[in-house]
Amino acid sequence: MNKGYDNASLFYDRLSAIIFGKQLLEAQVHYLHLIPANAKVLIVGGGSGWILHAIDKVHTCDLLITYVDASPKMTAIARNSYDGNNLVDFIPEDILEVEIAGKYDVIITPFFFDNFKEKEAAEILERLNTMLSNEGLWLYTDFRDNKVIVHRLLLRCMYLFFAVLCGVKANKLPDMHHLFLKYGYSMKDERLLINGFVESRVWTK
Ligand SMILES: C[S@@+](CC[C@H](N)C(=O)[O-])C[C@H]1O[C@@H](n2cnc3c(N)ncnc32)[C@H](O)[C@@H]1O
Repeated sequence: MNKGYDNASLFYDRLSAIIFGKQLLEAQVHYLHLIPANAKVLIVGGGSGWILHAIDKVHTCDLLITYVDASPKMTAIARNSYDGNNLVDFIPEDILEVEIAGKYDVIITPFFFDNFKEKEAAEILERLNTMLSNEGLWLYTDFRDNKVIVHRLLLRCMYLFFAVLCGVKANKLPDMHHLFLKYGYSMKDERLLINGFVESRVWTK
């Protein structure tokens, strides 16, 4: 059974801060202000849930959020630390297995797709696509191959580390740009960080 980042739950945020400082957080919060009022929001692979606190700064209480993360430990940390007033449904399940009805106005996938090989990433995108309403927003943040040797090496090390610790099977980034275009999405805006090693994008349906 896929338990996501259970084995990294106690130190993932600290490790990320040691390696990247606040840059990965910055990338994820960059477009949160685009979430419309009263929106239904689906967050997939949110980890320890710090993003919920960042969302609270933009919308204090009018959102209906579904929070899906395969790691029961990450989800427990997120649930226990959330003290905001948006309505959040925490679901500790694999996104490919969870049963969710209804459509969302916004889907957020922060550093999530880098965990998957091309085929699985395509399956997930296809599934999530059916959950996003027409003209919905997809806030996508992830690593990007900027062809810089040191970043490629770092990515390799991260894949190796999370393969051993969390059973991540991917060993390179899926081509998400191609997949979004294939499903008819248009890119509304983009911000690159860390010399293009991280991208934050707004895709619309
Ligand atoms: C790289 S971490 C990113 C965590 C958080 N978004 C952040 O940037 O701090 C990826 C997250 O995706 C979750 N995950 C991995 N595979 C998943 C799946 N199939 N369904 C749902 N969540 C998954 C992991 O448990 C982990 O919390």
